[in-house]
Amino acid sequence: MEKRQELYAGKAKSVYTTDDPDRLVLQFRDDTSAFDGKKKEALARKGMVNNIFNAFIMERLEDAGVPTHFEQRLSDTESLVKKMDMIPVECVVRNIAAGGLVKRLGVEEGSELTPPTFELFLKNDDKGDPMINESLAETFGWATSEQLAQMKTLTYKVNEILKALFAHGGLLLVDYKLEFGLFKGEVILGDEFSPDGCRLWDADTREKLDKDRFRQGLGGVIEAYEEVGRRIGIEFPA
Ligand code: CDP
Repeated sequence: MEKRQELYAGKAKSVYTTDDPDRLVLQFRDDTSAFDGKKKEALARKGMVNNIFNAFIMERLEDAGVPTHFEQRLSDTESLVKKMDMIPVECVVRNIAAGGLVKRLGVEEGSELTPPTFELFLKNDDKGDPMINESLAETFGWATSEQLAQMKTLTYKVNEILKALFAHGGLLLVDYKLEFGLFKGEVILGDEFSPDGCRLWDADTREKLDKDRFRQGLGGVIEAYEEVGRRIGIEFPA
């Protein structure tokens, strides 16, 4: 497999073509952003930590029967993935109220959400990733009703798998965002799963161990990501 030219650079990852038209290389960079790219910083080790973290999670999800774009980790900061047609819709599940939900509805941060909520957002930075629903997604052709149903089923399945995985490490999976795409007509999980796109709290102290440390300027961002990784059995290089 040969890495060829850069296809595009996102806020935290760059994507490269390869000699295989069905495969891409994801390069995880140290760049960190929040608030639709308004707050930006490079955090040492982040690319490596998120690449290794994501590979570990994607392998667990595949083992549990969730189809993903992940193929294999190529280096500390690169992974090989299937080239998909991305569906421009973000799926968010929440087990505990935090972030946007608290802001929008005024519910108390930390309240348990039973059953867990499921929300859709349009993946569009210029528009600030607005909240959408199934009807809008169908009408504007972002996803079909069948694809939306599959995305919802898979997003909830991921919740059951990862809530249990993090619970073993004494962690609460508060909420997370997933993105899907189509590969040979099938809906599969894309993007990444790392502390950049979910909220994880210590189960006893409720200390935040995710990107909220960056958003809220709490410091110790990558230290927290590595702590979470170690608690679920990941070993990071020195
Ligand atoms: O990020 P913010 O608090 O504004 O939005 P949210 O709706 O509370 O986010 C729910 C979860 O999805 C959090 O774990 C976010 O980190 C994640 N998310 C994301 O990774 N990317 C987005 N564009 C929006 C949310």
